[in-house]
Amino acid sequence: MSLVIFSNVHKIQPWIYALKNAGPDIEVISHEEIKDKNKVKFALSWDHPKGIFKEYPNLKCISSMGAGVDHIMNDPDIPEQIKIVRIIDPLLSQDLAEFALALTMNHLRGLGKYFYLQSRKTWKKSMYKRISDIKIGIMGTGAIGNHVALFLQSCGFSVSGWGKNPGKQTNYKRYHGYEQLDGFLGNINILICLLPLTPETKGILNRKTLGKLPQGAYLINLGRGLHIVDKDLIEMLDSGHLSGASLDVFEHEPLPADHAFWAHPAIQITPHVASLTTPASVAPQIIENYRRAINNQSLLNLVNREQGY
Ligand code: GLV
Repeated sequence: MSLVIFSNVHKIQPWIYALKNAGPDIEVISHEEIKDKNKVKFALSWDHPKGIFKEYPNLKCISSMGAGVDHIMNDPDIPEQIKIVRIIDPLLSQDLAEFALALTMNHLRGLGKYFYLQSRKTWKKSMYKRISDIKIGIMGTGAIGNHVALFLQSCGFSVSGWGKNPGKQTNYKRYHGYEQLDGFLGNINILICLLPLTPETKGILNRKTLGKLPQGAYLINLGRGLHIVDKDLIEMLDSGHLSGASLDVFEHEPLPADHAFWAHPAIQITPHVASLTTPASVAPQIIENYRRAINNQSLLNLVNREQGY
């Protein structure tokens, strides 16, 4: 009864080591080592080749190696009965929160501009903004978004959030539903996107929604590249409606060399590094879900396949 890792993106060895450490009695192998597909009960996946899971008749559960499950959900050939789970990890959430803070402070202090001026040996001061000047809006207030919101609030920012559903009561103002989206967008200086990618949220950051942000607002995208309509973002930056954007995620990764984002003066690019899963931190919850799955028990961090997250 194996736990099999399906990923060509992540280095497999640290994962095998961490999983064997957390569950010494469990056989953990890479997909290249599978001898009998009937024995595979649990898959750990990141960007698997689409369509493969229907070849595993006894597969009970697929776990994402990260917080996002869009790379699993976009496979139309996953049999109905297979459960999908994701990672919710305090370290991952805190890493995202710290990265959101770093990008926000970079924007407030104009550090990117100084590093550019350094490359031209130019000494030129400009005034900065303060935390107390800034209203941050977090789009997506699930486990991660909520953590980021509370962290930024604890740093002194004024924070609000937006989510699709009413959700739980929060210590910050939380807007919900599409009828409250304009009110949310109209009231912030920095928008941080942490939404899951679903057919509904694809392209949610477009000319219409970005246009509802106040003049000079700044965008930070830590969700997925497909949340943004790229040409609309460029239009909003070129017109000066948005003052800039920090983008960590892209429709195609690595970002193709000929993409207009690379050379845009108002865009800062990072290579999808906001939070990188630490195998040792998440292995215990994966092993726990493995045990629950093979015993037909309820799973941790179960994805609602209808909702897509
Ligand atoms: C990273 O993007 C993740 O989904 O964990």
